[in-house]
Amino acid sequence: MNKYAIVLAAGKGTRMKSAKEDFSKVSVPILGRPLLQWVLESLKAIGLEKIVTIVGAGGETTKEIAAPYGEVVWQKEQKGTGHAVSMAAPILEEKDGVTLICCGDTPLLTDKTLAALLSAHETNHNDLTLLTSIVNDPHGYGRIIKKDGRVERIVEQKDCTPELDAIHEINAGVYAFDNRELFRCLKNLTPNNAAKEYYLTDVIAMFVEHGRKIASFSIADVNETLGINDRYQLSIATKYMRERINKRWMIHGVTFEDPDSAYIGPEVKLSRDTVIRPNVHVLGKSFIGHENIIGPNTYLENVHVGERNKIDSSHLVNVTVEDDCVLGPYLRARDGAIIRSKSFIGNFNELKNVDFGNGSFCSHLSYLGDCSIGKDVNIGCGTIVANYDGVNKWHSDIKDGAFIGSGSIIISPLSVGENAFVAAGSVINKDVPAEDMAIARARQENKEGYAKVYKEKVCKKAK
Ligand code: UD1
Ligand code: CA
Repeated sequence: MNKYAIVLAAGKGTRMKSAKEDFSKVSVPILGRPLLQWVLESLKAIGLEKIVTIVGAGGETTKEIAAPYGEVVWQKEQKGTGHAVSMAAPILEEKDGVTLICCGDTPLLTDKTLAALLSAHETNHNDLTLLTSIVNDPHGYGRIIKKDGRVERIVEQKDCTPELDAIHEINAGVYAFDNRELFRCLKNLTPNNAAKEYYLTDVIAMFVEHGRKIASFSIADVNETLGINDRYQLSIATKYMRERINKRWMIHGVTFEDPDSAYIGPEVKLSRDTVIRPNVHVLGKSFIGHENIIGPNTYLENVHVGERNKIDSSHLVNVTVEDDCVLGPYLRARDGAIIRSKSFIGNFNELKNVDFGNGSFCSHLSYLGDCSIGKDVNIGCGTIVANYDGVNKWHSDIKDGAFIGSGSIIISPLSVGENAFVAAGSVINKDVPAEDMAIARARQENKEGYAKVYKEKVCKKAK
């Protein structure tokens, strides 16, 4: 059977209370991945002929997220979920098969659940299978109204009488529909309800009327159905997602000292015997090898970290760290920095686009921008590699075994040769050949006894 999916992602997200004109609710991220993308990833995993995403409010941003997964269709005016689905008619209306409909605001839905729903739909030869769950707090959801155990219709929150309000079985907003019958029914929808919208959920009663076979498919983990309508629900979903991801890594052999404060993105790979300490984010496409100690208080994004490193209270974005390094506390590294094995980079250093060589040291308070640092180099406290002249960024080479004294400024572009020595406080603006010593500072003059004279004459007068 041909399988399609329609993802509804055009809604305004009014309950998020954003002041932004072009706000796109489904673009709001959880662990760095937009709500909509979570749904699309689950759909992609089950293998479908086509995924059609309906975009509208904040549509330009939403479109970018959806385009890699299939077709994108506009719903210019948001007239309700039924109206949104009908926007896919030009693409799907004429097709035989089953169409899965999901909302772009239910990021916790798993591919496993979607596959199980489809399989129940097929095995039982249903025309419509609804995903439902029984929840403690059904407020805000459409309620499943059954008669003699059979689904009869769905009533939306706004249209609930107190009696219906007490029903705890809710519509998760995920359906497997016979495709042709779905589009036939959509044509007859009317906005006769409290919200004056075309409700997709009204199609259910039409299927009943037409004598179609309808069944509900109850989901075991009710958390999966959580729809993000407001920012409180966003925080709850983030918590569940975090727990899901962290648990997986813990089972895999990673220690989390405080899983409640660890934020590991969906595209991150962690390895065994690594320890994640409190307050750690690892996001983007990141890889963390074996036996690292990460944190506390560390933010890593798009990093590749080898083995046995210690990274404390640091911020690394687009960075490679090889093995056996000690980094931080308070290192910031970015823009393609490579930190090679066995190096030590201590507190309050910034590395931007630097290749930092094996076994080199940069213990404190330096800025290294656009440069290569060789092996076994010592960068003294407060060194600046001045890479920017206001227009261009320049590159410098500091070769193997060089020693840069504290408080030096290396004005790029230049090269400091192998085993060369730069005296503390130097301002270096030309190459230093290998093995040479460069001293580039004003020569000191001592005025004998003048401190006393100064205090007596100058300071007293000032009082
Ligand atoms: C919807 C269901 C409700 C169900 C709940 C599950 C309807 C009428 N109600 O309610 O039964 O319990 O989901 O989470 O379907 N959207 C559009 N275009 C529109 C309106 C909405 O694309 O014109 C999209 C939204 O972006 C969203 C999804 O449809 O992703 C659901 O819309 P939302 O307003 O959140 O519906 P709920 O009130 O949650
Ligand atoms: Ca919703």
